[in-house]
Amino acid sequence: MKTILVTGGAGFIGSNFIRYVFEKAKFKGRVVNLDKLTYAGNMENLADIQKKYKGRYTFVKGDICDYKTVFELMKKYAVTEVAHFAAESHVDRSIFGPKDFIETNIHGTFSLLEASRTLWAGRKDVRFHHVSTDEVYGSLGKTGKFKETTPYDPHSPYSASKASSDHLVRAYSDTYGLPVTISNCSNNYGPYHFPEKLIPLAILNALEGKPLPVYGDGLQVRDWLYVEDHCAAIWRILNKGRCGETYNVGGNCEMYNIDVVKGICRALERAVPARHNKALEGKNYVDLITYVKDRAGHDRRYAIDFSKIKRELGWQPSLRFAEGLAKTVDWYLANPEWVKNVKSGAYKNWIKKNYTR
Ligand code: NAD
Ligand code: TYD
Repeated sequence: MKTILVTGGAGFIGSNFIRYVFEKAKFKGRVVNLDKLTYAGNMENLADIQKKYKGRYTFVKGDICDYKTVFELMKKYAVTEVAHFAAESHVDRSIFGPKDFIETNIHGTFSLLEASRTLWAGRKDVRFHHVSTDEVYGSLGKTGKFKETTPYDPHSPYSASKASSDHLVRAYSDTYGLPVTISNCSNNYGPYHFPEKLIPLAILNALEGKPLPVYGDGLQVRDWLYVEDHCAAIWRILNKGRCGETYNVGGNCEMYNIDVVKGICRALERAVPARHNKALEGKNYVDLITYVKDRAGHDRRYAIDFSKIKRELGWQPSLRFAEGLAKTVDWYLANPEWVKNVKSGAYKNWIKKNYTR
């Protein structure tokens, strides 16, 4: 049976990817999910998949930095494909404490590459896909878009650690002939997103009548992609992408942060009108918007040219932002247990820390 090792599969994008692979792509093989279950990893994200695909879905708690664990696991399950998501992923946390980012994002990727090259020596029927971010390219001016050839210029410890891992993956392709692909994607949003990131944070704060923090002047631009569209792109690259190639993935959806937050307020007003939400005490959702101190080294603008993946693999985003946002808001409203559990754990500590910055 074909076996894919998914790292970080208990996190936001990794769990959506595993669901996509079984439910949408109708994959007939096995998925092994290796995840350390940091604050961002959540077994609840895949509770239904665990039941439904028993026998073809295996969860293993472990650290990608631990070479022996990775090697033994890949050997035991005769892994032929790696989809590498595991990372420390939040820019603000990387500013407060970069160490874990260096460990997991750089050393962890190194240990996976080493295990793959040792076990797969000389094989061409295998594939290592590395999931990365558009943040490695740095910040754009008013015009232009990131292409796959844009020079790297990372500014945060997070993006620097991801840039470093991208370079390592390319080095293993060039030096050892490891069959790799890399994707650099823009900001994702959707179900199972941990509420330290802008969109889920704003949705949940708004529902509770709490401030919606907008960093600096709110005029930074990000490109947004619905998470399932990202999963579809990764699946296509894993199966059809050319070896050694990088693919930029984006949503064709550049927005100012302040407009994203206002969009969330509009989506919430449709789903739970402010006049029916007691937590708002007579206010409107937009009244909660609060400008706060800017993030250090905050990149001004990201935009993605995804013409290569569109041309070569026929992928493009399927959802518009308003549709994706409405689905996301509906998901958070339909999953109060998930929200309650996430909020009672790691989230609480994060919020405490974030508001002392
Ligand atoms: P996330 O923080 O939600 O999940 C990360 C997962 O990795 C968690 O389940 C965590 O437990 C696990 N993990 C962390 N350290 C580990 C370790 N040492 N060993 C094993 N598992 C470990 O992150 P996400 O938003 O789902 O991002 C997934 C990947 O996609 C990352 O590589 C990130 O850089 C990349 N990416 C994210 C976005 C985005 O908008 N979120 C955009 C582009 C690329
Ligand atoms: P975030 O969701 O943290 O993702 P990333 O830093 O990886 O892009 O942030 C998205 C944008 O929103 C970014 O420009 C920072 C900004 N932001 C806020 O304005 N307020 C917030 O509370 C957060 C978490 C982010």
